[in-house]
Amino acid sequence: MSRSGKVSVIGAGFYGSTTAMRLAEYDMFETVVLTDVVDGKAEGLALDMNQSRPIEKFETKIIGQTTTADGSGYEAIKGSNIVVITAGLPRKPGMSRMDLIETNAKIVRQVSENVAKHAPDAVVIVVSNPLDEMTALAQLATGFPKNKVMGQAGMLDTARFSNFVAEKTGSDINDVKTLTLGSHGETMVPVPSQSSVKGKMLSDVLLKADIDSLVDRTRNGGAEVVALLKTGSAYYAPSAAAARMAKAVITNSGEVMPVCAWVDGEFGISGVYLGVEAEIGSNGINKVVETKLSEDELNNLKIAAEAVRAKQADVKDL
Ligand code: LAC
Repeated sequence: MSRSGKVSVIGAGFYGSTTAMRLAEYDMFETVVLTDVVDGKAEGLALDMNQSRPIEKFETKIIGQTTTADGSGYEAIKGSNIVVITAGLPRKPGMSRMDLIETNAKIVRQVSENVAKHAPDAVVIVVSNPLDEMTALAQLATGFPKNKVMGQAGMLDTARFSNFVAEKTGSDINDVKTLTLGSHGETMVPVPSQSSVKGKMLSDVLLKADIDSLVDRTRNGGAEVVALLKTGSAYYAPSAAAARMAKAVITNSGEVMPVCAWVDGEFGISGVYLGVEAEIGSNGINKVVETKLSEDELNNLKIAAEAVRAKQADVKDL
């Protein structure tokens, strides 16, 4: 198998390290770089991951690198095709993602400036929270074209919705198709009209009350995990989502995925980073796809756009 390209994951918490591991296990990249500000953590995790290679049989090499506040260590990400920004704090039980905005804005800004300096050609995938705002900030702070900066949320929220539908209907996960757009927060927009089980509309297989309760559970999917863990937030499903996006970029797959992307006129919405379906390729977002939505869903998407627009306007000063 031929391997090519380099992907760097900034932040070696559970989300970052699991993402790095998944990317390495794809065995597609030449190199996966994992960085962290905690001295030795990224190096230690990389050493451990590399030692799994003879068992899992992948050749991709993982490089761990400690970075410091003055930006040293970032040379390790030089030449990256893709950078996944996971740096920042996760929420604690009872917190909303928005409660992290000030702390994480400082971290994401500093990381983004270093990414711009050392990996100027990379496609950036942001996963730090609050997601829609941190994606907007990463674009501002890197100065990268908007198509080259995107956020991971829709893949995760959609996966949660699909899992709940599969459990509720007793279906195989592969028979379930769902979709979630909008923000990665209060104004998330699960899209039942685009959701189906074995090709049958969701409304034909579940009662409206059941759909509403699954939609609600999806919207609170992250908080449900946080409340159970008591410390830290979810990372298995989130890392699967981020890694798939990186794979779509490195393979220039043209896959359509729900992601946080810059919207410029689609759905009658402009000038905001928002959860929409988009075609992904080696330059990041090839195009935003105007998914067919019911009137209610479209209205909710517009409400989400205005909610995140207001917050995204704030981040430039943080
Ligand atoms: C979640 C976090 C990662 O939704 O945003 O689990």
